[in-house]
Amino acid sequence: MKLIVVDNYQELSERAAGVLVTEVAVKPQAILGLATGSTPEGMYAQIVKLNREGKVDFSQVTTFNLDEYAGLAPEHEQSYYYYMHHQLFHQINIRPEQINMPSCDLEDVDQFCREYDQRIAAAGGIDLQVLGIGGNGHIGFNEPGEQLRVHTHLVDLTEDTIQANSRFFSSAEEVPKQAVTMGLGSIMLSKKIILLAAGKAKAEAIARTVCGLITTAIPASILQLHRDVIIIVDREAAALIT
Ligand code: GLP
Repeated sequence: MKLIVVDNYQELSERAAGVLVTEVAVKPQAILGLATGSTPEGMYAQIVKLNREGKVDFSQVTTFNLDEYAGLAPEHEQSYYYYMHHQLFHQINIRPEQINMPSCDLEDVDQFCREYDQRIAAAGGIDLQVLGIGGNGHIGFNEPGEQLRVHTHLVDLTEDTIQANSRFFSSAEEVPKQAVTMGLGSIMLSKKIILLAAGKAKAEAIARTVCGLITTAIPASILQLHRDVIIIVDREAAALIT
């Protein structure tokens, strides 16, 4: 793992955007795995700026998003579909048919999940996967537990995650209880991974991801087995790394 500790959120966003833009410059047909949450918002803003300045071209890029709340319609402001289209896709020159998002539809969800992994494989696999991390160590929506799942699947969200994400909704009751997420196998097959974290609420999860034992209690700890991971964190998120 390569660890980059930066001074502030702006620097984190610029470093992360730099990795992504370099990937697309080297491989214009790059397959990108994208994450949501508040952490990558600054990175997306920086990418939009670079695209407007003509410094990166998304016309041949394909994207696959990591996860989506189950049962939340695409037009719901808290759906990851809405997030991605407003923060990024509507503002860059990506072709809509090259955008892949997990379905929020619970009908035939198992078949959708199988096909989503097949679509990623058929595209040649993910070249660069962007990840955030939950305070409980989750990546995508792969929650801590006794077992971790390999493939894209429907997951029950933990109470920790429902509480953490309730800040985006008017109450915890409104947070969907399930989500569709890429599995850890889907993530680990990515050729390169960047994980972003900011703030002290992520410090313990980051310390356990970087220097703890590999455990299902911290799903991100499996990233220690990946050969090309860059972790970009601010000083607060890095505070407990020993
Ligand atoms: C959400 C998402 C994750 C994200 C994480 C952290 O639940 N499913 O992909 O990395 O929580 O979010 P934030 O960056 O807002 O702290």
